[in-house]
Amino acid sequence: MKPLFVMIIFVITAAESASIPHIPRFPGQSAGSRLRNHAAATHHASKYDTRYFHQRLDHFSFAEAPGFKQRYLVGPSAGLWTPPSPIFFYCGNEGDIEWFSDNTGFVWEIAPAFSALVIFAEHRYYGESMPFGSREEAYKDAKSLSYLTTEQAIADFATLIIDLKRNLSAEDSPVVLFGGSYGGMLAAWMRLKYPHIAIGALASSAPILQFEDIAPPESFYDIVSSDFKRESRNCFDVIKNSWDVLEAQGKYDDGLVKLSRKFRLCKELNNTQQLSDWLDSAYSYLAMVDYPYASNFLMPLPAYPIKEVCKKVDGFPDGADFLDRIFAGASIYYNYTGSVDCFDLEDDPHGMSGWDWQACSEMVMPLSRSKENSMFPAYEFNYSAFADECSQSYGVKPRPAWITTEFGGHDISKVLKKFGSNIIFSNGLLDPWSGGGVLQNISHSIVALVTELGAHHIDLRASTKDDPEWLVELREMEIKLIKGWIDDYFQERASYSL
Ligand SMILES: *[C@@H]1O[C@H](CO)[C@@H](O)[C@H](O)[C@H]1NC(C)=O
Ligand SMILES: *[C@@H]1O[C@H](CO)[C@@H](O)[C@H](O)[C@H]1NC(C)=O
Ligand SMILES: *[C@@H]1O[C@H](CO)[C@@H](O)[C@H](O)[C@H]1NC(C)=O
Ligand SMILES: *[C@@H]1O[C@H](CO)[C@@H](O)[C@H](O)[C@H]1NC(C)=O
Ligand SMILES: *[C@@H]1O[C@H](CO)[C@@H](O)[C@H](O)[C@H]1NC(C)=O
Repeated sequence: MKPLFVMIIFVITAAESASIPHIPRFPGQSAGSRLRNHAAATHHASKYDTRYFHQRLDHFSFAEAPGFKQRYLVGPSAGLWTPPSPIFFYCGNEGDIEWFSDNTGFVWEIAPAFSALVIFAEHRYYGESMPFGSREEAYKDAKSLSYLTTEQAIADFATLIIDLKRNLSAEDSPVVLFGGSYGGMLAAWMRLKYPHIAIGALASSAPILQFEDIAPPESFYDIVSSDFKRESRNCFDVIKNSWDVLEAQGKYDDGLVKLSRKFRLCKELNNTQQLSDWLDSAYSYLAMVDYPYASNFLMPLPAYPIKEVCKKVDGFPDGADFLDRIFAGASIYYNYTGSVDCFDLEDDPHGMSGWDWQACSEMVMPLSRSKENSMFPAYEFNYSAFADECSQSYGVKPRPAWITTEFGGHDISKVLKKFGSNIIFSNGLLDPWSGGGVLQNISHSIVALVTELGAHHIDLRASTKDDPEWLVELREMEIKLIKGWIDDYFQERASYSL
């Protein structure tokens, strides 16, 4: 019997790896639709004004085209600020800018000590900053979406800064860029591309090396998996083995009905892949937000949520059903407050997501799942399968080498050692995106700040009374470095005007 059993597992695994796992997203895209924290936005309402700036649709052509309104937040009200005090500029990522502003307390907290004006600029095609008049028109097809690129977004930021400084007679104010996750990539790239516009950048959890073959494609899922393994070996093993159990269940006559009932789904499953993707998302996001205190970033969650998930998974008697265990674990992520009646697997109620478009055009970050180290079904990134899916879904052929052509990435230490300055790359090693981050100091002013127990851009979050010592120290170091850039700037300015 035994060899046969092994064969079945093999066939199932082979079938599974033929289907492409969904593209992991950064937090912003998911949260933007699922969780609009308007209460928090009102709380900060007095802190900033909301303004709009008329942007070009295409910075790189002279063709006539209608522009669009880019939203930006500015605080404190500009009257309380005087140039040439600094400007702290947050490079908006893939989502509603108010949400990023609410979750980037660090910038708001440190600004007063620098007498800095804070700007949060929204990324085009997200939130309210829609070209073509509406989201529907902007997301209509590959043609309307073709202006959704990192280069255009960074050019928006550059244009906005220049115009704003002119309006505020603040040409001499130094600008410091901030960004987390994809926004951190934009901040770092913008510092390199537009050194005349910003004196430095804090790029937190920015996986600028997760392109082509620079970073190992397995790192993302290996890190998610090791985050679970460090809490409990059993938890890791249960999850690792649950995929085959799930797949096998789905093959029974009424398997999908039973699975839908067991997982309390609002709508009946059409295939097990939907459920696998839903679980995969939970584990991946849990690893990103494995913060040392209770938080409500993507979902309301307890402190150290992975530890709590594993407590649930491990808490069953020996021989308990794997699916009961993983359901209990996933419920920590999806139903921590206990207010969910049924689980809705439909990921993005607004249809096509901007991030998926970006991932299918230039932001091609190859991800695989190793057989040995990961708790996920093994999968080797298959570029042609990925490209096929992109052309089917979005009518676009990816350009996987464009980002490294435009911004670099290969041999980054060698290249940036003597070029560029004033960039902080901060990464927490619990964060699965840290595998694509800059983890080593490149020069005296392009530095990597690495924390073993940090998760996704935790340094950019507001301080809390539960912040561990390493986090307090990390933020102090960042403040010290930023202060150094600003002091240098003013010293040089003084010496020029002598
Ligand atoms: C600068 O002022 C002009 C004229 O009032 C205005 O149209 C423009 O939007 C302002 N720029 C920014 C960045 O707000
Ligand atoms: C299964 O397919 C039906 C019909 O297309 C759809 O209405 C339903 O939402 C799908 N179920 C899930 C869980 O996505
Ligand atoms: C969410 O949690 C509450 C409280 O434990 C429970 O009553 C409810 O059934 C859960 N919802 C789902 C979909 O499991
Ligand atoms: C990769 O995908 C292509 C296109 O879907 C397929 O023909 C090929 O067999 C796949 N390669 C591997 C190694 O799975
Ligand atoms: C990089 O240099 C800074 C000092 O500027 C130091 O605190 C930090 O630990 C170094 N990072 C790494 C990864 O060695």
